[in-house]
Amino acid sequence: MALSTGHNRVRTAVFISGTGSNLKSLIKFSKSKKSPISVNLIISNNPKAKGLDYAKKFKIKKKVLNLKNKNLSENKLLYILKKNNIEIICLAGFMKILSKNFIKKFKGKILNIHPSILPKYKGLNTHKRALNNKEKYSGCTVHFVNSKLDSGKIILQKKVKIAKNETETSLAKKILVQEHKIYPKAILKVFNL
Ligand code: GAR
Repeated sequence: MALSTGHNRVRTAVFISGTGSNLKSLIKFSKSKKSPISVNLIISNNPKAKGLDYAKKFKIKKKVLNLKNKNLSENKLLYILKKNNIEIICLAGFMKILSKNFIKKFKGKILNIHPSILPKYKGLNTHKRALNNKEKYSGCTVHFVNSKLDSGKIILQKKVKIAKNETETSLAKKILVQEHKIYPKAILKVFNL
């Protein structure tokens, strides 16, 4: 993505469904000198998402949309994004699948973080499947979102070693630590910084 010279930070919406630890890492990054983005909007499909607390803490606008009626809520979402001049979207533990139409409207402007080394283990329960398959490594991937689940162009990946006594919980934790590092790095890469 190109940044014009003397740019203001690129207005970004972060979509969450749960804890929001990646949201927190993105907000922290956005406040650093080198960040090309500012986090201006938090969207959650889950009214109980813990990550929504960061809206208050960091004084960022938030919206909750249940996205059950996809067409209706996506239209509302598009309207909200437009009204807030959002230019890029970062999915961060967002557990809903966006429609083809929505993705087309933000073509090349939606990033996602996924807790596996894609193309391995697209979809849910990545850690469980990696452990069941006795993988030696797992990790995380930041990629562009296209209309096929977890299949868009890969921006950055980080591998982690799976220990002998690894559990789903310990692996998830280990990978999250890396997620918090690679999401900001991937954003810098996208803007050629
Ligand atoms: C993260 O591990 C993220 O990669 C994963 O959910 C977790 C959210 O944690 N995302 C997916 O599985 C997307 N299909 P967080 O809410 O603490 O950022």
